[in-house]
Amino acid sequence: MEIIIQPTPEAATRIAARIIARQLREKPNSVLGLATGSTPLLLYRELVALKLDWSRVTTFNLDEYVGLPREHAQSYHSFMWENLFRHVNIAKKNVHIPDGNTKDIPAFCAKYEKQIKAASGIDLQVLGIGTDGHIGFNEPTSSLASRTRIKTLTQQTRRDNARFFASEADVPHHVITMAIGTIMEPKQILLLAFDPKK
Ligand code: F6R
Repeated sequence: MEIIIQPTPEAATRIAARIIARQLREKPNSVLGLATGSTPLLLYRELVALKLDWSRVTTFNLDEYVGLPREHAQSYHSFMWENLFRHVNIAKKNVHIPDGNTKDIPAFCAKYEKQIKAASGIDLQVLGIGTDGHIGFNEPTSSLASRTRIKTLTQQTRRDNARFFASEADVPHHVITMAIGTIMEPKQILLLAFDPKK
């Protein structure tokens, strides 16, 4: 594990973008695990500016709210297309984001795990971290062996994410999330964390 401390989010993000750029240049058909939220926003802007070739890249997003329409401005589908995918030459068929409106959540989660395996696993996983320490939406006490599944958000996470919605009451209670067992498998994990006091 390497910990790189930088004076600003911009400096840390530039390093993260360089690591991802190197990954895509060395392996044009890389499989990336991607996060949403405020932390990777700068990173996605930086990656777009680098004008990399995404034509053979496959992505799997960490999570999605359950029951929020895909076209809702705060769905993670909207977030990813708005902030990254529509600006790069990724093939739509290579983009995977959990379907928060699936009728059969366990079957969907099992299929998501199979799709990751079929893609030969994730080469590089981008992570942010919640104020209660969650990665993906694996709230504290999540099992280390867990696989993609539905989780209930803690009150703290719903309160934190209320900044993206009109009110806390509008934040969905449930999410589909890649789980700890899934997230710990990639060959490289890039966890970005910014000092909230700065
Ligand atoms: C998002 C995700 C979450 C966020 C975390 C931090 O896909 O999985 O774990 O990374 O909630 O969110 P921000 O970056 O908004 O502080």
